[in-house]
Amino acid sequence: MPMSATTGHSDIELVGRRVPRIGYGTMRLTGPGVLGPPADPAAALRLLERALQLQIAVFDTAWYYGPDTPNQLLAQALRRHTGRVVLATKLGWEYDSSRRLVSAQTPERLRAGMRRDLSTFGAGAISIVHLRWGNDRALTDDFRRALATMMEMRENGSFTAIGLSNVGVAQLEYALTQTDIESVSNSFSVADQRDEEVLDLTTRGGIAYLPWLPLRAGTASQAAALQTWAHRLAVTPAQVALSWLLHRAANIIPIPGTASIKHLEENHAAERLQLPAEALADLAAAR
Ligand SMILES: NC(=O)c1ccc[n+]([C@@H]2O[C@H](COP(=O)([O-])OP(=O)(O)OC[C@H]3O[C@@H](n4cnc5c(N)ncnc54)[C@H](OP(=O)(O)O)[C@@H]3O)[C@@H](O)[C@H]2O)c1
Repeated sequence: MPMSATTGHSDIELVGRRVPRIGYGTMRLTGPGVLGPPADPAAALRLLERALQLQIAVFDTAWYYGPDTPNQLLAQALRRHTGRVVLATKLGWEYDSSRRLVSAQTPERLRAGMRRDLSTFGAGAISIVHLRWGNDRALTDDFRRALATMMEMRENGSFTAIGLSNVGVAQLEYALTQTDIESVSNSFSVADQRDEEVLDLTTRGGIAYLPWLPLRAGTASQAAALQTWAHRLAVTPAQVALSWLLHRAANIIPIPGTASIKHLEENHAAERLQLPAEALADLAAAR
């Protein structure tokens, strides 16, 4: 494969560890609608073990996926790998009795979610907890209160570092006046480049940026641009999409989700793919 002849991207430091640039997100290891267990839990466990074998080190997850089902599988897979991975979870949402995803951002709900994370993974296992916000990117008292609760939980040793997810510039700037922020996890991809301002702020501030939905299906012209470059480079569109993110900024750590070992291996291999400048420009301009 042409990729093997290229040099690849350097590892990055996250929570004091050197980690490869492509991580993994567990959201696909559930039943339909991110609820219930995956159709084949043994296959999901094999996938997580393959990810660890490939030295994938950044795992993004949340107790409300399932709820708890990918986390339980991940905890099982990680038993023999403690200390090597960066386990990143999220608090701030949950499913209500009608199976709708609703916000859970009050101090009480954040603490309840944290207890759930700790009961699955155990004390000392969680590297980053993202405060997952929503569509409201304004700086509000609710946001200030939620951040203060995150700081209190970090101080009492529940986890190592605070991350933020789905936040805007005002929220990130405020948070940085209060505490260190290890990572931001917002939507960003070839198909969705709206978050450039937050991304650039994290790049300047030395904060890791974990784009979710890195393989988002975009417009017909974005899909065509990915397909064209994949064809020219003899790789897949998903690999081009991931590599474009790695080139976009040195602090980006994509967390693609998949239930397929073939796709996992393909996504992992994208770390070695170098894109020509013309491809980078083409994909940045695709609308
Ligand atoms: N912070 C937040 O608010 C937030 C929100 C959403 C998601 N997340 C996190 O971000 C992670 C990634 O997001 P995501 O899973 O929604 O989207 P994604 O990674 O962009 O795409 C996943 C989809 O792409 C497919 N896929 C994966 N690799 C592929 C490949 N090499 N070739 C072709 N298709 C491929 C998967 O299907 P197969 O299973 O068939 O491979 C799945 O349908 C999640 O797992 C979750 O951890 C965070």
